[in-house]
Amino acid sequence: MLDVADRATERRAATNERPPTPSMSVNAWSPHSIVMQDAWFPLAHSFAVGQKPVRRAIYSHPYFLWRENGSPVASEFHPNEQRLRDKSRHTDADARYPVMEKYGFVWGWFGRPEAADAVHLPSLPFLPPNGGLPKYMLGTVRFDCAAPLSLENLIDLTHADFLHADVVGDEKSESETIETFHTSETVTMVRNCKAKSVAPVMKFFSGIRSPVQDVRQVIHIYLRSHCAIAYGRFTPGDDVPLFHPCVPETRDRTRLDYAMNTSNAGFMFRHVMPKASYKVSRQDSSMTSPQSPRYMRPTTRRDLHSPLDAPGQRYRMAMQELAARQEAGDFTYRDNVSADCSELIGLRRELFNF
Ligand SMILES: [Fe+2]
Repeated sequence: MLDVADRATERRAATNERPPTPSMSVNAWSPHSIVMQDAWFPLAHSFAVGQKPVRRAIYSHPYFLWRENGSPVASEFHPNEQRLRDKSRHTDADARYPVMEKYGFVWGWFGRPEAADAVHLPSLPFLPPNGGLPKYMLGTVRFDCAAPLSLENLIDLTHADFLHADVVGDEKSESETIETFHTSETVTMVRNCKAKSVAPVMKFFSGIRSPVQDVRQVIHIYLRSHCAIAYGRFTPGDDVPLFHPCVPETRDRTRLDYAMNTSNAGFMFRHVMPKASYKVSRQDSSMTSPQSPRYMRPTTRRDLHSPLDAPGQRYRMAMQELAARQEAGDFTYRDNVSADCSELIGLRRELFNF
């Protein structure tokens, strides 16, 4: 089997395409021109979908969600709405979108209905497949910025040492390494810090006495679904596995229905850490909201990178490759996003028994 790089080379040879060089392609990044098709988006927590329809959106396309005999339904129209418009090409004859329920979320398909397949659902091995996490581990925040900016901000975790120092600790550590991995559908960043200043949230709520801790953080992004896993392992300390979806409600507004499974932490940390997301997301928003208009515009300015920016550059390149393929009419998945990613993200599987 060819690996991703081989396939890209082969394709370029066939099409005379120039290979992407970081400087060229990451500077030509204009996320507005990319609307990814054929993907599952986590539209709502399962508990939020009942008999009464709720409205969500993907790139301004309305998704009304409700349940019929317990099963979720996703429709382009409110059930009481008069059908004044034609249905979109993303739905079936009844104007319904493909929909499924897993990991405690209702997922809507955006793309060609006939291509919808559970095999394209992202792997989230730290969430119970049938849902059921307590509500205090779930929450919703919104960002006034493009979903890709939110994901780029996340995959550059060095920002956390400055922006979220009062939650996760400052930038001081003995050593720091950052590695990047990718497939045609995912980008993964692994950050290892030795003897990093202990996270204040753990000092106060997990009772960590040591002034420093070893920290391993992984950001794993599913490109098409705009979903990320943010998984931190703190030694001494707790595991913090966060599902961080960035659903593009519009091109410059992002909805994040998150789930943080802190089941294995002590009582205080288990309850407090998921709620810290509200504080952390406000800190992120203070940066990304003002940045978003500039992020959307093409620029001739040179983008100056440091080696720590490699994961973000890879994210842009992988998104552009996928977009180029979609533009050429190729919507196939070349890599399996539902394959268990426990090993890749270094999940301590024994902590998550289901
Ligand atoms: Fe952040």
